Amino acid sequence: MRATPGPIDRFLADLHARLSGLTGGAPATYIPELGKADPALFGIAVAMVDGTLYTAGDAAHRFTIQSISKAFVYGHALDRLGREAVLRHVGVEPTGESFNSISLDEAHNRPFNPMVNAGAIATAELIEGDDPIARQAALAALMERYAGRRLDLDETVYHSEKATGHRNRAIAWMMLNSGMIKRAPEEVLDLYFRQCSLLVDARDLATMGATIANDGINPRTGARALAREHVPDVLTVMNMCGMYNYAGQWSYEIGLPAKSGVSGAILLVIPGQAGIAIYSPPIDANGNSVRGVAAAGEIADAFGLHIF
Ligand code: DON
Repeated sequence: MRATPGPIDRFLADLHARLSGLTGGAPATYIPELGKADPALFGIAVAMVDGTLYTAGDAAHRFTIQSISKAFVYGHALDRLGREAVLRHVGVEPTGESFNSISLDEAHNRPFNPMVNAGAIATAELIEGDDPIARQAALAALMERYAGRRLDLDETVYHSEKATGHRNRAIAWMMLNSGMIKRAPEEVLDLYFRQCSLLVDARDLATMGATIANDGINPRTGARALAREHVPDVLTVMNMCGMYNYAGQWSYEIGLPAKSGVSGAILLVIPGQAGIAIYSPPIDANGNSVRGVAAAGEIADAFGLHIF
């Protein structure tokens, strides 16, 4: 927070204080380690494209990025291979189904979109590099360009998901069977589990969103993380598919491209203006943070952010 709190600081502090009392939902438990999160944690960060950062609550508390990573890895695939090639691997159709649904677009021999697990596993296979170590390095470098700093891996969450992620294994093996992925499923999954287990705090995540908002350039470091021509592709897919089977109602009410993760974070992008990150572990039946959805609604209303 700046030395003298301004109206945005005061708005966020008030919002945080009011919504701290909001109950409902529970931390995800299907990845056992995530179930240990403190349900009271609640942080908000807003990163503007001019580099200004506003925070409230537990904005410095680190958590695993989980599904929010899917948006950045999708952008990397587009930058690396171009739109047409990526469309051969993954579509852009909303599913209206849960994030881990075992459904594939068999008519086009590809997952429906890069925000559901099937699509994200297909996209993880597209990360640049000649071998697993090179691909891990490319992933780390990508996320570092967005966040403006090196991100650590949460080894405990990574191992917890790797030990229990059999549904994702089922999806990956099905995709191997239909030729949607080519490499060994366990290797592709390892990279996917790693990308989901990177540690960020709300300030990092807001900066990552501000980077997309800023035409792909990190406003704090000046580094380009995403080609300008692919920013609309990433935002469109976030807008349609980022909140899973809540995506339609989210777009109707809040009207901003967003991506949620089962650790309890939501990233919103205000194109051309800012990234907003909200973290609070209790999630609802759709896998979206309860306080996150409530806070996003209030922020969008208060500042008239609905893009339509
Ligand atoms: O694949 C999984 O189940 C997790 N690593 C990520 C899921 C996730 O964050 C979905 N978001 N709501």
